[in-house]
Amino acid sequence: MKYFLDSAKIDEIREAYETFGIDGVTTNPNHIMNSGKPFKAVLKELADFVKEKKIEGYEKFPISVETNPHLTKAEDMIAMGRDIAKLSPNFVIKLPCIPGGIEAARKLEQEGIRTNLTLVFSPSQALIAAKNGSLFVSPFVGWKEASGEDCSQYIADIVEIYRNFDYKTEIICAAIRTGKQIAECAAMGADIVTAGLQVYKDSFYHPFTDYGINKFCAAWDKTITD
Ligand code: E4P
Repeated sequence: MKYFLDSAKIDEIREAYETFGIDGVTTNPNHIMNSGKPFKAVLKELADFVKEKKIEGYEKFPISVETNPHLTKAEDMIAMGRDIAKLSPNFVIKLPCIPGGIEAARKLEQEGIRTNLTLVFSPSQALIAAKNGSLFVSPFVGWKEASGEDCSQYIADIVEIYRNFDYKTEIICAAIRTGKQIAECAAMGADIVTAGLQVYKDSFYHPFTDYGINKFCAAWDKTITD
């Protein structure tokens, strides 16, 4: 399973790439705002960062960039998607799963501009992303679980539907908050998870690992090692 970093902060992206090897990046208007930089400046920084990066499994290291969330008409989303795509071949256009976004995704894919259908909360929304040939679909996990829903069946259903029809769209389980959610998405056969840097760091940690190191250090110190 692939790990994407959900962030628009270049220092976080660099750290994740260099320390545990992320496979891609997802951004959204919230992350761009949190970077504290203007939209176009962030895109330039991201485009420069990935220029020479090679990633197994992709022709180009993918970075999802969302269109202006105020747009509702397909023609406007398509125009903005084309403008973003011109800035870097690595940019994947993230579009909301509303009628305009669904149409824009289909038409941009027909032009060879790759898309990620986002704000997906049900298997039937995920199905239209695959039928339209989007590169990615982003079913949200964290938001649903925060509202009390269990996401296991919903992600498992999307995986099963995609396998039934051999759809090529990759499933990005989005808004991942815990290591448990990462493991559940992997067990269900999702292609990708996207999460913030701290979520990954927390997921790599276990107190028994520290306990084991202390125990083995004590043993090492009582051993003749040369
Ligand atoms: C996914 O592609 C989204 O960018 C993301 O996961 C949205 O949720 P969050 O910002 O609440 O984590």
